[in-house]
Order: sequence, then structure tokens, then C-alpha cells
Amino acid sequence: MPESAIPTSRPRVLSGMRPTGKLHLGNYMGALANWVKLQDAYECYFFIADLHALTTDYADPSRIKLNTLDVALDYLAAGLDPEKSTIFIQSHVPQHAELHLLFSMITPLGWLERVPTYKEQQENITGKDLTTYGFLGYPVLMASDILLYQADFVPVGQDQTAHVELTREVARRFNSLYKSAVFPEPDALLTPSPKVPGTDGRKMSKSYGNTIGLSESPLFWGPKIAAMSTNGQRIRQTDPGDPDLCPIGDLHKVFSAPELAEETRNRCRKASIRCEVCKAAVGKSILDLILPIHQKRKELESRIDETWEMLREQSAKAAIRAEQTMLSVRNIFDLSRDLGSVRRYFGTSAEDIKNAHDLSQHSSWWNLPQDQQSKLLRDYWRNNLVPRDISLTQESQRNFASIQRELEEPFISAKKKRVLVSSMSAQQEPSGWHFRIPPKSYEVWTLLCWHGTYWLDDFVIPQKFYAQPFAQAKKKSKDKPIHLRVWKYGEKWNMEFVDLLAREAIGNAIVAQAMEPIDITELRGNYEPLN
Ligand code: TRP
Repeated sequence: MPESAIPTSRPRVLSGMRPTGKLHLGNYMGALANWVKLQDAYECYFFIADLHALTTDYADPSRIKLNTLDVALDYLAAGLDPEKSTIFIQSHVPQHAELHLLFSMITPLGWLERVPTYKEQQENITGKDLTTYGFLGYPVLMASDILLYQADFVPVGQDQTAHVELTREVARRFNSLYKSAVFPEPDALLTPSPKVPGTDGRKMSKSYGNTIGLSESPLFWGPKIAAMSTNGQRIRQTDPGDPDLCPIGDLHKVFSAPELAEETRNRCRKASIRCEVCKAAVGKSILDLILPIHQKRKELESRIDETWEMLREQSAKAAIRAEQTMLSVRNIFDLSRDLGSVRRYFGTSAEDIKNAHDLSQHSSWWNLPQDQQSKLLRDYWRNNLVPRDISLTQESQRNFASIQRELEEPFISAKKKRVLVSSMSAQQEPSGWHFRIPPKSYEVWTLLCWHGTYWLDDFVIPQKFYAQPFAQAKKKSKDKPIHLRVWKYGEKWNMEFVDLLAREAIGNAIVAQAMEPIDITELRGNYEPLN
């Protein structure tokens, strides 16, 4: 088996956290520790959702940057590695905001009002006015974060699954509205994370004020653990206890080595360990886990400029990937930045035709690998040459790697008609350009004739131009590709079907003519919109 020309890329993972300040053990065990592991198997994007923070903290944005840096330092201290993953700041990639705006055009209000966190948060977060447009759009921004990178998986906690579900719906709606395949539907990657109790026994959460910070000194949290309630277990130390009912027991499950956890559980049940000692033991387990993280963070804090610089670089890198998606999206909304085929509505000056056909302006094109060339050529063709009233779906973008597939799976026009684009398939010989056209029905052919490296002549040939002789050639070809020659004579361009059997019999030097040549000069470049 020949190896595929497409480099086998790893599935993409994306996740982020709002910059609410320094992270705590709940964040670490519930998300970050898992992200660190994902880095080796996936192409990972991890970011800090500062725009999301503004949906609730818009009235006092004074700590956004500080909190962003704090989260970044914790990401790095915990083991996220900019050599492996792209680690960036949401607002530094303006494409997030742009895609959010465009998605807001297609997202029905009802979908957003039905997201459970919307009502809940409005009720639970007091002291902030959350009856804003931005807060309602929180999940749309999150959909943009995810879809901008065409992520396959989104590692999140249970509380975020409704948002991932909405993201899938937005992707589906976009793809179906615009008959595209731009956005894959991402899956939530649920972390089987143990519940981490806070110092008051409830789930560790910033809003309960019961956290142990990832970079907090044991001088602060040690005494809090020592003072933790055992939930009524072993009021007298001679009483046996049930470790499953005690938050200290839960902490052991999460943080202690299995043998130690087992030993303390047994001794709790037999009242052979004092709670004080049991608490000290779990404190030690936590310390062992976070000490290296503290040390790393200390180092990073001594030169925060480097971390900031890294974030800026990585954000620029993320923006390059994001822009790739936005090119397709802008095209679909007819917002692409080149004049493109609109120019044909204003007549076509000789200068316009010249520019449209001179690919040396697209300087790096020729050095790219063939699959990318082929894709760029299609994009180029789509933006500059295809008649305005044929709006193509993205369907065939997936198949750009294989010329064979390209021929078999044509572009589809908005009216569901098949459009043939011959890109790399023509062979230039002294007698002209030779194409092999599949014996299938197309609404339009686009034939691209290359002169050397940088010059392109293109022809958009509606079916009515060739229908009759093509039908004859098809009959003769018996399902084999049909041979077509295009050649230039003076300023005139001609096209003809070639009788392949005759050609083989006579040899390549002579091209047996099977029909009258068709004059396609007027179809070159500056065609009128087809109807
Ligand atoms: N809403 C997420 C949270 O509060 C943060 C977030 C924003 C996010 N955008 C995202 C998570 C995209 C995953 C993917 O935890």
C-alpha cells in the first residue's frame, strides 16, 4: 500500500478556563491534570477565556489581565507545555469575537434561553446584573472557541456538557444552512474526575470559599485541614468511624497513594488511628503532589515577562489556525476580502483578466506540497473565476489530496448541480492541453490550462456548449474517461474530443480528431454569469 499523501494528523482537543484567579486543587484534579496527559496523544489547544470572564465581570474589568496571567502560570506550573500544546489568550485571537458575531446571526434565541446554566447562574450570582445580551450569548462564544479550531474533543466537566451540546447544534445548523462541511461536531471528553471536597466538606469551589490553592502555601491550608470537620465521625477517638462518610476519607481517596488510603480507612474503622494523624497524613499526600508545582510556579513568577511573551507568540500561532477556518466562513457569508468574481459584473478590463491569471502574485504557491496546491487552486478558482451564481459547497474540500477522487467527486453548485474542476489533471503536450473527463454529467466544466508555472488560462464551459459531441464520445468510450484536447491557435482557443482508440492505434504523435473543434475563445476568463 502506498502511504497516504496526507500527514496523519492527531485528533484535535480544545479546552479553556475563565480567568477567575489562581487555580485550586479542584481545578487541577478535575481538569488540568487530565489536560497535561492529553498533550501527548492529541493536537491540543488550551486557552484562557478572558472574554468569557467579561460576560459576568464587565462592571469591574480591573483584574482580567492579572487573573489571566495567574491562570497561565498555573497552567504551566502544572505541566502544560507550549512545546506540545498551543496555550493562548482568547482575546488575543480576534477571530473568536468575529466568529461569535457571525454565529449569533444564525443561533435562535430559544436555544440560548433553554441552556440550563443561563437561568441558574442568573439566579445564583447575586450582585451582578446578568440580564445582558453578552451573558445570554456565553454559549455562542464557547461554540466559537471550539469550532474555530474545528476541534474533535472538548475535555470539560459535567457542568459544561450543555454548552458542548449547543456547540454541536450550531455546527449542524451552519453546515446545513450553507450546505457545507466546515464544522465537525465536537464531542465532550468527560473527565472521570473524583469529587474533591473543600475545607468545609462541600465540593471545592471558589464560590464557597473552601478551596486549597494550587500555589497556596501549606502554612495557610495545613491548619484548615487540621480544623476540618469529620462529619460527625469519631467524636470520641475511641469510637470507630466510617471513612466513606468523612471528607478526610474523601481527600485520601483523591490524593493518597492507594496503600496509604487503604491503611487509613482500615484503621479509621478500627479506631486505631487518631483523626489528627489521619489529617496530617492526607496533608502530606497533598503536599507531595503540589510541591513540584509550587517550585515551578516560583521560577515562572520570577520572570513573568517570559510567560507573557510566550502567550503572545502562542496566540499568534493560534490565530493562524483560526484564520484558516475564518477564510472558509467569510467566503460562505460572502465577506471574503478579495474582489473575486464580483468584478465580472463591472465588465472585465484587460488588466483584471491579466491579474486574475497571473499566479506569480500568489508567490509561495508553487513551492507547496501538491495537496495544498490543489486546495489553494480550488480556493483561488472559487474566489476569482467561478461565476457568481454558482455558489459551491465545501463538500469537495475534503478530497483535495487525490486527483482521482477530485474527478469522481465534483463540486456541487447551490442548485445541486455537478461542477467539474480540472485542476492538476491536465497534461501539457506540444499539441495542447490534454484532459481526461469522467463520462458523467456536469452542469459546467472548468478547465484550467497551465503555461509553465505561473500562468493560468481558465475556461468555464457550460454543458450546452459540449453536450452533443460529449454524448457521442461517451458512447464510444464505454465508461472510460473521455479525452479532451484544448489548444491555442493565435489568439483563438479550441477544444475537441479525441477518439482514444484511434489515438492508441496511430500512436501518440498524431491526434485523431473525432469531431469539429469548438471555439471556446470567448469562454476564457471573462465569461458572463452562466444561466
Ligand atoms: N465555559 C467554560 C467554563 O466555565 C470555559 C470555556 C470557555 C470553555 N470556552 C470554552 C471550555 C471552550 C471548553 C471549551 O469552564
